[in-house]
Amino acid sequence: MAIVTLALASTLLAFGPQVVLSFNSISFSTVQQCGNFSVKFSGGKLPASLPLLLTVVPFNFTPIAIEIPTFNWNNTTLTGAAVTFLPFPADAQFVASLDDANGIGTGPVSDIMRIDSSSDSSCLSSGPTPARYELSDSPTQCRDFHVAYDPTVVDEAPEVRAFVPKGPSVFLNQDVPGSAVGSAAYSMAAAQGEQVVLMFSDDTGFKQTTDLLVVGGNSSSPTNCLPSASPTPMAKNHSSSSVSHGLSK
Ligand SMILES: *[C@@H]1O[C@H](CO)[C@@H](O)[C@H](O)[C@H]1NC(C)=O
Ligand SMILES: *[C@@H]1O[C@H](CO)[C@@H](O)[C@H](O)[C@H]1NC(C)=O
Ligand SMILES: *[C@@H]1O[C@H](CO)[C@@H](O)[C@H](O)[C@H]1NC(C)=O
Ligand SMILES: *[C@@H]1O[C@H](CO)[C@@H](O)[C@H](O)[C@H]1NC(C)=O
Repeated sequence: MAIVTLALASTLLAFGPQVVLSFNSISFSTVQQCGNFSVKFSGGKLPASLPLLLTVVPFNFTPIAIEIPTFNWNNTTLTGAAVTFLPFPADAQFVASLDDANGIGTGPVSDIMRIDSSSDSSCLSSGPTPARYELSDSPTQCRDFHVAYDPTVVDEAPEVRAFVPKGPSVFLNQDVPGSAVGSAAYSMAAAQGEQVVLMFSDDTGFKQTTDLLVVGGNSSSPTNCLPSASPTPMAKNHSSSSVSHGLSK
């Protein structure tokens, strides 16, 4: 049973301000369809803003953010854990982030995980939610990309959060506010060649994700938007599956 573990030590500088100072390590269990999904965290301390939120981002599907009101944190052993379930069908792929109450990551995003099959389908809802947002162009490192929507349905352009598997999650800057024709532009704060999944959330509570994308660009792409403000693509810094102190640069 593979456990995805990320050691978070020394990630904070590399990830910039969009991570709160908290745990040293976060690990997620494997998960079967409609089965338990657990997260364990250790070292460091609880973030200041509680409750913890578990944000689970399946690819091209409806994401969820689960409040974790009851988790146990042992302040002697500095370990904690929580159990929940995910309403996603077998084979769905996803990443997860353990966030503070403001939705800021307490550490890096998980590796890409997949729902294992099971005979239990009691947690599955009927049919996917219709999409509301569409990418008008493919995201490129530190360049604007456009998101289109129906302005008769959406009155304010969504927040967009980018999740890099085993890397940072960042809320993207909206460079061009939503227009009357239903388009807004955001700067892609991830390095070229990195995989990323985008989550749209709007003021009606609607959430939607993209498929797993690869950030475009080349060595001449601007680097000023990158979380680490480092010219080196972050992917280089966390290419091994057990990330330990390897994220600092
Ligand atoms: C799932 O988690 C709940 C709550 O922690 C627990 O009561 C239950 O026994 C777990 N089920 C399985 C199959 O592990
Ligand atoms: C914390 O962990 C220690 C060592 O396992 C244990 O003795 C103690 O009872 C735990 N405290 C709580 C509040 O669970
Ligand atoms: C640990 O928790 C106990 C009980 O909630 C509390 O009295 C104690 O001050 C805490 N210790 C630390 C180091 O936070
Ligand atoms: C990088 O991409 C831009 C835009 O596609 C292109 O004009 C430029 O020549 C490329 N530079 C390199 C070094 O490949």
